[in-house]
Amino acid sequence: MVIKTATFVKSSAQCSQCPEGNLPEYAFIGRSNVGKSSLINMLTGFSKLAMTSGKPGKTQLINHFIINNSWYLVDLPGYGFAQRNKAQRLAFRNMIEQYVTAREQLTNLFILVDSRLEPQAIDLEFIQQMGEWGIPFSIVMTKTDKLSQLKLEESAERFRQKLLESWEELPPFFYTSSTTKKGREEILQYIEEINQSLHK
Ligand code: GTP
Ligand code: MG
Repeated sequence: MVIKTATFVKSSAQCSQCPEGNLPEYAFIGRSNVGKSSLINMLTGFSKLAMTSGKPGKTQLINHFIINNSWYLVDLPGYGFAQRNKAQRLAFRNMIEQYVTAREQLTNLFILVDSRLEPQAIDLEFIQQMGEWGIPFSIVMTKTDKLSQLKLEESAERFRQKLLESWEELPPFFYTSSTTKKGREEILQYIEEINQSLHK
């Protein structure tokens, strides 16, 4: 897929403020600092579209970007950011939960996982919840440029085995690096196929 245009539309504090209309949207979620905003920039090819930071907790609202005037990429705040207090963590959690459960235009949720880490309880719990709620999702392993191919395969396999403890079927897996652009074509093609299936 060729990205001709990618434009910031708006930031919303809650689902009711999100753009109207029925264009399909693809959202990115995961722990703070996992690389959601960087991945959006890498996919679109516009390096300053979504704001990124070395410090976790950068994205604080639901950000809509319209692509080729026909579908949205959505940058969400991260979950599990320890430096937030309990009330703030709850507020972010509610924002994310309300978005994923109430937003009918949400076509696929990309759940980002840091490929360098052992399977994290917080990610596994979030995935479990999405599965129980019937939210269509895929797993994206990020920052793969930091690992050798062998270590990456081992890490992905550990994650898959963890998921298989609860689920019979695995969701699609993508392996990405915002630095090397690994995974870009695969994700864009996946989105394009879904968009085409929606037009049939
Ligand atoms: P929050 O908005 O705080 O939830 O974080 P985020 O998930 O949007 O992460 P962000 O894209 O801001 O990236 C966090 C940090 O990780 C930044 O310093 C990025 O440069 C770095 N980073 C993101 N993706 C990659 C990657 O694929 N490879 C490497 N080496 N660094 C990355
Ligand atoms: Mg961000």
